[in-house]
Amino acid sequence: MFRQNAMRKFPSVADLEIGARRRLPRFAFDYLAGGAGDEDGIARNRAAYSDVQLVPNYLEERDLPDLSAGPFDRQYALPFGIAPVGLSGLIWPGAAEYLAAAARRADIPFCLSTMATSSIEAVGALSGDNGWFQLYPLKDHEIEKNIIDRARAAGFEVLVVTVDTPTTRRGLREIKNGLTVPPKLSPVNMARIAFNPAWALANLASGAPKFETLVPYYPKGVKFKSVAELATNLLARGIGWREIEALRKHWSGPMIVKGILSVSDARHCARLGVDGLLLSNHGGRQSESLVHPLQMIDEIRSAVGSGLKLLVDSGVRSGLDVARAYARGADFVFLGRAFMYAVAALGAPGADHGVDLLRTEVAQALAQIGCPDIASLPEFLRN
Ligand SMILES: Cc1cc2nc3c(=O)[nH]c(=O)nc-3n(C[C@H](O)[C@H](O)[C@H](O)COP(=O)(O)O)c2cc1C
Repeated sequence: MFRQNAMRKFPSVADLEIGARRRLPRFAFDYLAGGAGDEDGIARNRAAYSDVQLVPNYLEERDLPDLSAGPFDRQYALPFGIAPVGLSGLIWPGAAEYLAAAARRADIPFCLSTMATSSIEAVGALSGDNGWFQLYPLKDHEIEKNIIDRARAAGFEVLVVTVDTPTTRRGLREIKNGLTVPPKLSPVNMARIAFNPAWALANLASGAPKFETLVPYYPKGVKFKSVAELATNLLARGIGWREIEALRKHWSGPMIVKGILSVSDARHCARLGVDGLLLSNHGGRQSESLVHPLQMIDEIRSAVGSGLKLLVDSGVRSGLDVARAYARGADFVFLGRAFMYAVAALGAPGADHGVDLLRTEVAQALAQIGCPDIASLPEFLRN
């Protein structure tokens, strides 16, 4: 019953975004939805998908389309996964846990951020072998190795190393909102929280969000007030290919580098024995100037061949967008904000609704064009 109602009230990610906007205090919604600078990058990310057109075949007889996909040996039930989102508990307490559990139920990957507000161990227990772990490079390589070892021990299958944050982002909404962790209880923020009782109650029950995975490594007696402060203290400013090489040696499972957009970086990764690239502009959050992954995918594919898997995120807002990304040559697709909007709009059950909605949309997208399975999508691309 809940699922039917959710499908009627929130039949698209755009509706979930509206629901999220209603239920979150402004500073939390802005943190989730906002982009870098003038936010041009977010608009271009959306346009990148509407430009992809598909040509249908109606006269072949078909069964229901097969939606399974996977970049490596393992096939997941659905062709999309949940991208890493830092500070998830500020958006909705327990968001990472709800999404990890929903991912396991639906058999899709859930990628936990280094900067999530839930620990590796707590989420690993929920995500089972559907868990991927996203690493932000750290200044101290011993801490970095320790975190990776914890991820392996907690059952995470794939390591995702994010390389696209060599500097702090200029998120103007956050600057104006004066976002801190936990949020400062200024009169304006108190008023915003008072207008969002569901969020306030959920927070009351869970306590203030903390970067649980990183807490053990905080210098003694130091409490970080802002993400920027934490970043300057623990996180490295970017990463070089030698460190990717060292991480490759330390992690024996599949390893993906996230945030690659150039042919030259892709070539480095291919040479170092990385298994996949998550082509991403961080959802338009780091700089509005960054090219969209779909504009680079052909060049990168020609440079590195088919051995290196090319995953895509940034701007995916529907199952049709997922299908379009595959049609343009993606080996797997991730969504960040879409799943967080679902949890923010509906709480815990929103995680399952987000997956249901995208499943329905991908199935419809393939059936409409007569495409039998995910691997066949490139044949339906209008060149
Ligand atoms: C609020 C928020 C926090 C994010 N935090 C991280 C993070 O901690 N690590 C990371 O690699 N990417 C992070 N990302 C980027 C996502 O993993 C993903 O690349 C991006 O959301 C994809 O774009 P989309 O939101 O348009 O789907 C974050 C994105 C958002 C929206």
